[in-house]
Amino acid sequence: HRDLIAISELERHEILYLLDEAEQYVAFNRQAAKHSDSLAGLTIINAFFENSTRTLLSFEIAGKRLGADVINMHAAQSSVKKGETLIDTAMTLNAMRADAIVIRHGSSGAVGLIAGKVYCPVLNAGDGSHEHPTQALLDALALRSRLREQGNAADDFTGLKVVICGDILHSRVARSNILCLHALGASVRLCAPPSLMPSGIDRMEVELHHRFDDALCGADVVMMLRLQNERMDGQFIPSPREYHHLYGLTPERLTLAAPGAIVMHPGPMNRGVEIDSAVADMEDRAIITRQVEMGVAVRMACLDILTRRARGISGWGDAEWV
Ligand code: CP
Repeated sequence: HRDLIAISELERHEILYLLDEAEQYVAFNRQAAKHSDSLAGLTIINAFFENSTRTLLSFEIAGKRLGADVINMHAAQSSVKKGETLIDTAMTLNAMRADAIVIRHGSSGAVGLIAGKVYCPVLNAGDGSHEHPTQALLDALALRSRLREQGNAADDFTGLKVVICGDILHSRVARSNILCLHALGASVRLCAPPSLMPSGIDRMEVELHHRFDDALCGADVVMMLRLQNERMDGQFIPSPREYHHLYGLTPERLTLAAPGAIVMHPGPMNRGVEIDSAVADMEDRAIITRQVEMGVAVRMACLDILTRRARGISGWGDAEWV
């Protein structure tokens, strides 16, 4: 692979390789001095056409910790506002001889389209409701690290029951996570109000629920998603109060899951709507800040691997992956 566009394009052994590479950066990032020159001289452009805190900052930190020159392009302050097309914007970034371009865009498929127009590796930082591959990888790394602390030394998630609850219809995080969790052996239950469950999603071999209490029964991991109000297009959704009543993760509800079940959320959270603060801040159960920490490590690994060819090092797609 030259690019990282979707988990659907990765084999199980490639996902495990990425996680193992990222794990090395976790230790690196916990040192007082965390700087390497491995990407020195390379230029990375973060082109974000949608808002972001975690993904943008962690890609920026990742590139800088590896010694690259990192430039952020915020669409709201760019010539996109003057009517420049996505393709012309991509060709402009290409002409500046970037060595990697990280893109977030509101339209599904937009990042793949740009990848076909530029000469350098492209990393998908989230495209519409399609995929958010680095989110799924960081979620897997955070989950694996918590499971290892609990004495589970397995590389993968064979036998694990994961519930993903929230606005599945608009969620690229859910789609990437279903693919990544399945590749690593977990089973996935989805829970959403009927209007926020995409038709045909059962083809992804997931168990579907509309009642949260049923979905939670005996689950090992509970991943909560926010309502993406900015993407709603006439779907009927309950009021925030009613949503919390039906789908909010409360301490009482969490008792329906397996003892010690792990709680995850990709952020941003809407506390008091899909998750109570009393759950989000449970140090022994919630790994939400760990997910953020793993995000930097995963993005360092992705930038390292995808720029290896430019640096004359074998990597993605080469024999060492197999
Ligand atoms: N999880 C996630 O993608 O967060 P941001 O939108 O803040 O990047």
